[in-house]
This record gives sequence, C-alpha cells and structure tokens, in this order.
Amino acid sequence: MRRLKLAILISGRGSNMEALLKAIAADPDYPAVAVLVASNRPDAAGLKIAEAADVPTVAIDHRAYGKDRVAFEKELDDELRRSGAEIIALAGFMRVLTPWFVTRWEGRMINIHPSLLPKYKGLDTQQRAIDAGDNEAGCTVHWVTSGVDEGEIIAQARVPILPGDTADTLAARTLPTEHKLYPEALKIACAKILQT
Ligand code: GRF
Repeated sequence: MRRLKLAILISGRGSNMEALLKAIAADPDYPAVAVLVASNRPDAAGLKIAEAADVPTVAIDHRAYGKDRVAFEKELDDELRRSGAEIIALAGFMRVLTPWFVTRWEGRMINIHPSLLPKYKGLDTQQRAIDAGDNEAGCTVHWVTSGVDEGEIIAQARVPILPGDTADTLAARTLPTEHKLYPEALKIACAKILQT
C-alpha cells in the first residue's frame, strides 16, 4: 500500500498535529506517514511532541526574514522538498502563505479552520459566531488556495454553541471535534491525491 509522505506545519500547541500523528500510529493502513513537522516559531510546544514521537522537526523563525514572506517560504519549501513531503497539513500554522508557496503546493496542501466555512474566515472565529447569535459552530478541513480559508471543503463537523459560551469555552468544546475530523479529512485528501 502506498502512503503519502506528510509534512505538518505548526506555530504553537500542536494538538491537531498530535491527533494526526496518533491516528497514523494507530492505523497500519493509514495512507500517510509523517516525515516532517515544521514550525515558524522555535518555541512552539508542538515541536517537543513531534520529537517525542520520533518525527523529524525543523524550526524556521519567520522573524529572521522581516517582511520578506517569500524568502521565509523558500527556506520552508527547501526543507519540505528535502523531507520528500508529498502532502502538507497546516495545523495551527499562523502565517498567511503567499501565492508563490500556495501555487507550488496547490492540490497537496490542506488546512483545519475552527469555523463552519464559508462563515468566519480568518481570526476570532468563535467570538464572531457568538456575537452573530449563531447556535452552532464547528470546524472545517479544506484544500488551501491563495484566498485565505477559501479552498474547497473536504470535511466539516458541527458543535453546539451553548448559553454563556465565551470564545474560550467554545474553542475548548470544538477542539476534540477537530482532533477527530482532521485525521479523517487527511485520509480523504490522501485518497484523492493517490487517485490522480
Ligand atoms: C486550532 O483551533 C485550529 O483549528 C486553528 O488553530 C488551532 C490550533 O491548535 N487553525 P493546535 O496548535 O492544533 O492545538
């Protein structure tokens, strides 16, 4: 069985990355194998989780490149190519990627976003859902395109918004749902790539 080489990009806690690594470890038939976890922040807690799982890691501090986003992305792209990555999962990666990078990986890069897209692209999704009076929120995994949080949806899951919810309580309620959704959606994305 062919497995795609997976790179996961993070910026912080890395709980979605951990969920992907656990799903891969738990299923001998999972269609991906992790070859790299990369962070734009050297202090990202998720790097330690990846190291403990024996997955190669790299930190490329975006601050060293100032405003030159593409220079940062070229370094990242070099690391990804060196790792042999065939698919990228963004997991709490907090840098907007330029068209230069997105075009290089289009059709091979997915993201998890904590809202029911197309609602609430960008930041502060939970607060915006609460402020709008919505009675449900959720998370979406989608293909990455140049428009932020705009690519085709792969999978989505809903969670209720309860009276008295704050952005933090809603985010905490959504997170376990993200951890279930992302490994399933990554499987679907791998299947699509492997078909072509
Ligand atoms: C998650 O809520 C994810 O949907 C969003 O950023 C958060 C990252 O959390 N894109 P973690 O680093 O995976 O724990």
